[in-house]
Amino acid sequence: MQNLCTFAIQKTYIYIVNMAEYLADTKKKITARTFIEMKAKGEKITMLTAYDYTMATLLDQAGVDSILIGDSASNVMAGNATTLPITVDEMIVYGRNVARAVKHALVVCDMPFGSYQACATDGIRNAVRIMKETGADAVKLEGGEEIIDTVRGIVRAGIPVCGHLGLTPQSVNQFGGYGLRAKEEAEAEKLVHDAHLLEEAGCFAIVLEKIPARLTSRVCAELRIPVIGIGGGAADGQVLVGQDMLGMNQGFRPKFLRQYADVAGVVTDAVKRYVDDVRTGGFPNEQESY
Ligand code: KIV
Repeated sequence: MQNLCTFAIQKTYIYIVNMAEYLADTKKKITARTFIEMKAKGEKITMLTAYDYTMATLLDQAGVDSILIGDSASNVMAGNATTLPITVDEMIVYGRNVARAVKHALVVCDMPFGSYQACATDGIRNAVRIMKETGADAVKLEGGEEIIDTVRGIVRAGIPVCGHLGLTPQSVNQFGGYGLRAKEEAEAEKLVHDAHLLEEAGCFAIVLEKIPARLTSRVCAELRIPVIGIGGGAADGQVLVGQDMLGMNQGFRPKFLRQYADVAGVVTDAVKRYVDDVRTGGFPNEQESY
């Protein structure tokens, strides 16, 4: 009798564990459409960048709504001073690594500088290639009216597009730096006009980078699609570079960045202890040997 009871309890336990795993795995995949529904319901959207399989797995498991393969990979992964040098081929490698890891989050891949500025045909071809070869769910492009035909063409090709206005780092040479954008009325009005154009062209979301918080609020109120802010104050959602918010990029501490961990400190400490253990003969020990 006691054996039977133990058997029943074990079976129930295994069933509950399997069910929990099944539910965790079938958690609905987030799509571009989900983003618009989330805004309508007043739910905030979370986005972080990632460029590799391991980090993307962790972010996805932790429950972020969207993972952006930002062209910030040019700075963060390759050590370039700007986002300009990164190529479509390189973005595809980073994008593929991330898309392979992600089960739930919406995967958005940046279109790099030079891949869509010349003409709509270029932009559509490169967007199709990025989607085909990475497995991402959407692409992101910087700019407004200047690239609106390209945005329309990519949307017509069935590809969800996220816009990006305000501080658009691919135009850093024109801006002369990474300072706050749209402080003056003319630039602010152009930004609002561009945001409406992007919505009409079919974008499912717009990133607004480093602009005054009041302007972000205005765009959020005027658009049906969500606004994802970075350095723009409160918005429908927020995005940060994963390495920055984890405290891996020690020299980068702008006002808008909240650092949630000191991963640089954790890594430095672990590596120092490892080096010390190997040098003093403390690693490997008997248990760590065959
Ligand atoms: O490339 C990137 O990481 C981005 C975010 C900063 C929005 O575009």
